[in-house]
Amino acid sequence: MDSPPPPPAAPRIATGPRGLPIIGVLRDVRKDVLGWLLRTAAAHGPVAQYRFGPGRAYLVTHPEGLKHVLQDHVKNYTKDHFSYSMARRIVGDGLLTSQGETWLKQRRLAQPAFHRARLSVMAEQMVRATAELSEHWGEAQRSGAPRHVVRDMMALTLRIVGEALFGTDVRAEVQAVSAAFNVLSEQAVERFRSLRLLPPVLPTAYDRAFRRASHTLREVVARIIAERRKRLEDQGDLLSMFMLARDEETGARMDDAHLQGEVLTMMLAGHETTATALSWAWTLLEQNPGPERMLHEELASVLGGRLPTADDVPRLVYTRRVLEESLRLYPPIYVLSRKVLEDDTVCGYQVLGGSSLDMSPYVTQRLPEYWPDPERFDPDRFTPDKVAARPRYAYFPFLGGPRQCIGNNFALMEGTLILATLAQRYRPRMVAGYTPTPEPLLTLRPTGELPAMITAR
Ligand code: HEM
Repeated sequence: MDSPPPPPAAPRIATGPRGLPIIGVLRDVRKDVLGWLLRTAAAHGPVAQYRFGPGRAYLVTHPEGLKHVLQDHVKNYTKDHFSYSMARRIVGDGLLTSQGETWLKQRRLAQPAFHRARLSVMAEQMVRATAELSEHWGEAQRSGAPRHVVRDMMALTLRIVGEALFGTDVRAEVQAVSAAFNVLSEQAVERFRSLRLLPPVLPTAYDRAFRRASHTLREVVARIIAERRKRLEDQGDLLSMFMLARDEETGARMDDAHLQGEVLTMMLAGHETTATALSWAWTLLEQNPGPERMLHEELASVLGGRLPTADDVPRLVYTRRVLEESLRLYPPIYVLSRKVLEDDTVCGYQVLGGSSLDMSPYVTQRLPEYWPDPERFDPDRFTPDKVAARPRYAYFPFLGGPRQCIGNNFALMEGTLILATLAQRYRPRMVAGYTPTPEPLLTLRPTGELPAMITAR
């Protein structure tokens, strides 16, 4: 008779930084979150365990563990986490924060707005908006006035989201939206890292600033919705899809609060991240003359001086790799969290139900076993054979599994077209004395808005 299979080995208990009584690792995270994440992964391996305030948390950095959490056992890892309660206070209920049936219904509704055919229509809008910024960069080059590259990228990507997804011109509102979002982003991170989780309802200046910023964003969204209501024909864009959809069972349209949440989610998730990625691409190109030269050679041979179109995107191979490599070194969403529903085993380690589970593209995308010489900027890490040789979750700036970013193809196409349009003519050069360092707010922006002189190629 066959002997019975051996009992499964008992899961191991993950180790981790000890932290302090009551606050756990909070103080170290507040001091230097990126350094803390890198040190924790280096010292404790694929799964680390620690206390974040009073709660138990894990940091999973191994690609197999990420596949388990984000894909294979995704139902066990939910967004019932305080980071999403905070996000909900900023964007309301939308695709990013919802779960279960509500999320699935909305995701199916929104998906067609990001299909390939729609994206090529949007390419034209993207290039037109970028060409306008190119004119401003031309003036700056002639007059010698510096530009703030982060500000320019934010304004451009916000305008593109407005036109491409909502058929509206938000140029007049760019400053107000950016200022409001900066307040909310800084406060959200500060509140999160000090575990101040109460809603911002007090009559203090701090809470009032939060409420005011939130109100500004809602006013902009209300204006976009009201404008479309006046002419409720189907324009084939995302806003039409949201506004015209009816519930299959009840026949009801989406209520106003929900509609506002969806629009605000897309507006914020769809511009800040791409602008951050592009800002890093500009700094990395300046710091790496070899890749910058390769980029210029590709632009000369594919475009030869003309503006790009959707048809050029598949041929702008190196341009896209520049963007992918920038997203590796500086993933805009550098850390994400989930709540663990039930006890589980991840990479052979015990993970207890009720805990938090953190994942960091910033850390995994620097693991030397998948990324030799990880700090080096090398777009050729993204040739098809090198991509195929790495595990899927060694690289996940857009996440993966069912909650993968809905805008990933939009963002990669947009980033490629923006880089191609501007880099054909200009090279931004950081002003003397400025050194870009990553500022870990809601996204990982370069500090100080990247002041640069615009030089001609
Ligand atoms: C380089 C640019 C971008 C990066 C790095 C990025 C990254 C991400 C990540 C990591 C998530 C998962 C968040 C989570 O589960 O908590 C996400 C989700 C999402 N992103 Fe993006 N994103 C980018 C661009 C965009 C764009 C252009 C749009 C819209 C036009 C967009 C809309 C969304 C939405 C709606 C979600 C929630 C999707 C869902 O849960 O079903 N993103 N993004």
